[in-house]
Amino acid sequence: MKTILILNGPNLNLLGTREPEIYGSTTMEDVIADLRERFDGIEIEYFQSNHEGDLIDKIHEVGFDRQYIGIAFNAGAYTHTSLAIADAISAVKVPVVEVHISNVHAREAIRHTSLISPVCCGVIAGFGVDSYRLAVEAIMNF
Ligand code: DQA
Repeated sequence: MKTILILNGPNLNLLGTREPEIYGSTTMEDVIADLRERFDGIEIEYFQSNHEGDLIDKIHEVGFDRQYIGIAFNAGAYTHTSLAIADAISAVKVPVVEVHISNVHAREAIRHTSLISPVCCGVIAGFGVDSYRLAVEAIMNF
């Protein structure tokens, strides 16, 4: 079955309890369950890691597999710092959509820079956890 990978970086395992005034109170388990219910013709796979290298390994693992039609990737703070993750996205064939729950452009200046935006096919930011659904819809329309 065609598969979309929802890939989350550091601290996103704490969604629901982490700074709820910024990120809301919905857990990632709820987000994934909702996506699986909405998009029942597609496999929604989920992977989260707090470790840069694990995220890179996952991008390499799925990035040449034709079963995957896209990756919806919230790289967390690595968005703003990781050239290695940007290089991994550049290296693979599967398209990657950059996702943010918060509107990073309305926050501190350091969050206005993304090292991964130039190598992603699009960016969705600021719609709360609905950003993940919007990214899945974008991938399904590629
Ligand atoms: C985030 C925004 C990042 O700046 C931050 O470091 C995160 C979450 C978001 O989803 O809004 O961890 O990617």
